[in-house]
Amino acid sequence: MQFSPLQSRLAAPLLTTPRLLLLLHLVVLFLGSAQAVEASGSRIYSPNKGELHDAINKEYGPRLPYPFDLAGLDASLIKRAPPGITGLLNNVRENRNVRPGETQHFVFEAIHIFGADDEDGENTNDGDGATDSIQARDHGNETLVYDLNGPDDKVRLGKPKPAPSLQRRQRNPKTVYISATTCMQPQRKNNNTSVDPPQISLFVSTSEDIQKPGPDTPRSGRLFEAFDEGAVKLSVNASGDVFFSISAPMRNDEMFEGDWNFDVAVSTDMFFHSYEVTSGGLLWVDSDSSAAVLTTRNLTDTYDPEEVQQIMDGGPQYVMFVDSEDGWATRGIRHSMCGLSQYAPMSAKVAGPFGDKATTFLTTRGPGGLPKQQFHFTNLDPKSTYLGILAYTGTETLKRQLSNRAGGGGQIFQATQFETKEGDNCKIITNLDFCNETEYAVPANDNRFTVSQLAQFYDEMARDKYRYFERQLAQVACEAPQEQRYSLVRNCTDCAVAYKKWLCSVLIPRCEDFSSENTFYLVRNVNQSFPNGTRLPDSVISQFPGSKHQHSRHARIDEEVQPGPYREVLPCEDLCYDLVRNCPSSLQFSCPRPQQAMFNASYQVRGSGLTCNFPGSVHNPSGSSVLSTSWTLFYMAALAGIGMISL
Ligand SMILES: *[C@@H]1O[C@H](CO)[C@@H](O)[C@H](O)[C@H]1NC(C)=O
Ligand SMILES: *[C@@H]1O[C@H](CO)[C@@H](O)[C@H](O)[C@H]1NC(C)=O
Ligand SMILES: *[C@@H]1O[C@H](CO)[C@@H](O)[C@H](O)[C@H]1NC(C)=O
Ligand SMILES: *[C@@H]1O[C@H](CO)[C@@H](O)[C@H](O)[C@H]1NC(C)=O
Ligand SMILES: *[C@@H]1O[C@H](CO)[C@@H](O)[C@H](O)[C@H]1NC(C)=O
Ligand SMILES: *[C@@H]1O[C@H](CO)[C@@H](O)[C@H](O)[C@H]1NC(C)=O
Ligand SMILES: *[C@@H]1O[C@H](CO)[C@@H](O)[C@H](O)[C@H]1NC(C)=O
Ligand SMILES: *[C@@H]1O[C@H](CO)[C@@H](O)[C@H](O)[C@H]1NC(C)=O
Ligand SMILES: *[C@@H]1O[C@H](CO)[C@@H](O)[C@H](O)[C@H]1NC(C)=O
Ligand SMILES: *[C@@H]1O[C@H](CO)[C@@H](O)[C@H](O)[C@H]1NC(C)=O
Repeated sequence: MQFSPLQSRLAAPLLTTPRLLLLLHLVVLFLGSAQAVEASGSRIYSPNKGELHDAINKEYGPRLPYPFDLAGLDASLIKRAPPGITGLLNNVRENRNVRPGETQHFVFEAIHIFGADDEDGENTNDGDGATDSIQARDHGNETLVYDLNGPDDKVRLGKPKPAPSLQRRQRNPKTVYISATTCMQPQRKNNNTSVDPPQISLFVSTSEDIQKPGPDTPRSGRLFEAFDEGAVKLSVNASGDVFFSISAPMRNDEMFEGDWNFDVAVSTDMFFHSYEVTSGGLLWVDSDSSAAVLTTRNLTDTYDPEEVQQIMDGGPQYVMFVDSEDGWATRGIRHSMCGLSQYAPMSAKVAGPFGDKATTFLTTRGPGGLPKQQFHFTNLDPKSTYLGILAYTGTETLKRQLSNRAGGGGQIFQATQFETKEGDNCKIITNLDFCNETEYAVPANDNRFTVSQLAQFYDEMARDKYRYFERQLAQVACEAPQEQRYSLVRNCTDCAVAYKKWLCSVLIPRCEDFSSENTFYLVRNVNQSFPNGTRLPDSVISQFPGSKHQHSRHARIDEEVQPGPYREVLPCEDLCYDLVRNCPSSLQFSCPRPQQAMFNASYQVRGSGLTCNFPGSVHNPSGSSVLSTSWTLFYMAALAGIGMISL
């Protein structure tokens, strides 16, 4: 049976009410599984192990392994699972410890893959994996059905339809997605980083004859996949039960201590945990000596204002983890959400542990005005290389509503590298009032301007110039009938937009370390002292003759900010061409040609990487323009109120 959307929404609260507990206890008692009753009392069984885990974390601190084995209860629901094998439910994660040399066994029973009553082999439980009843099978040929939607929620101990032995029935194979992630791994005893802790492995069997696949099973009898950076994904086409195991290798006790802990889940919809090895997902906007700004790609490519608003209202969907590039805290678990949560030295999430040192929010800043999620980190070390790892979690609302949803384990993207600057005379400014697209490092001097004063200084400078331009533009026949206008295709609005874009890029220089070796960047202000008072040696100054190197673009920068020597990422030439194209010729804008000496002091051409500056430019711009996760579909479905509760 399948839920209608309405039913599934109603079922969600129902499944977590005490009535469910009662039901579960009835099931347990009826089946005579005494040991599972111990799970009652103060510990409450909820299908959402994540919540339980969180509760345990609160009580015992986050570094403790999951100490409580609730498997007894799960196993009791599935009597057929042989001893030592844990039955898993569709899209419900299970967390386990595994000691060196040990193997943990699981089964995804055919009944959860194909549904209980597909008499005619028809698949009644496709897609969302929703089931509206708990089934416990006894002795293989009897099914007890507990209907959670029945009148008065009464337990209908249905004399079940005689269920023919499942493995003998002919079925169309169905794809089963198995995924697991390492949440904890053995830790180095003496900080010897030359060797990483070994990875655990997944073994899968679809044969009733091999119910406990493992390292000792002959190769022909099982599929094998080692975890990669703490994650594994494997899909099989099943026509019956799927047996699988997670096995830990032996550990070098001289170097490592502790066991492994992992999350495992199985699904008929899609991989519960997922990782992306090709796309980084993160764009590195800019950094200074202690801070960095990164952003996702556009979260949508449609300009539909309703969808844009919906995404903005939904709040952040991603978290970002940071480790230093040569750091070893996250080595071995970089594809694992729970592993990164455990070991990453820094992360930016909504209400995360790093307060205002790591923040994230949605913005429409950048070309196109489409929603994207930004991450700001402070307290970074100067002249360091970091790895940023983006992870999709879904919005807070989605997480609350659909904890056991398809794909609930999230998606990890390939790490993105970013660096901090060496000197402190370039500082990131953001949230400017007028130049509201400006967000990068600018020439700075802590002794004279705080960062917010600095932002105001540049913003005011641009606003002043713009006022002057507006007066000039007012002289042009903007409001005239079409045939008297300066152009049939452009009007004064287009001109004003192009001018603002150009002005903010030209007047607010994008700053890089003087020590940068990137030859696209123009050396400025060589003859001034750094904010710390040191001057470049004369021998270095003499390498940069000519006035373009002696001064900044605007005299007020040298006089008031006094940043000392820096390099400027010049504005892109097309900003100038855009301006000329969009504005009336009576304003007499013109651009220098690349052959002219003046060109090299004013603009730069676009190339690979960050060669020139424009609103929204980033250091690593390659890749597609939209960040798409395989979850988008589910996310949108959730927003539309289509439930996907699976138990
Ligand atoms: C299966 O059911 C049949 C009749 O309903 C019964 O005779 C038989 O003993 C059952 N088999 C097992 C293994 O319980
Ligand atoms: C390992 O390094 C950490 C800090 O990096 C230090 O606190 C700890 O004492 C070191 N442990 C050993 C055994 O050297
Ligand atoms: C670290 O471990 C490797 C491999 O076991 C060993 O060769 C090396 O000497 C160790 N280094 C230190 C500093 O203990
Ligand atoms: C499962 O079957 C589908 C189509 O029948 C096929 O495309 C896919 O490769 C199969 N997957 C595996 C893991 O065998
Ligand atoms: C920036 O200002 C313009 C109007 O001047 C507005 O259309 C745009 O939405 C603003 N962008 C952001 C990110 O606030
Ligand atoms: C002053 O700052 C410059 C540029 O950041 C740096 O190269 C230089 O070493 C600093 N001098 C001192 C004395 O700290
Ligand atoms: C200028 O043209 C754009 C379309 O290119 C239009 O949306 C806008 O309303 C026009 N502005 C004025 C002042 O006519
Ligand atoms: C550099 O500045 C000093 C004074 O600070 C001045 O005497 C000198 O002429 C300047 N050099 C150049 C090349 O402008
Ligand atoms: C401008 O710079 C480019 C390299 O960046 C160089 O090839 C070219 O000769 C320069 N042009 C002038 C006029 O200096
Ligand atoms: C976002 O979309 C806009 C408009 O399509 C595009 O110009 C921009 O490059 C996209 N942003 C990224 C980071 O790809």
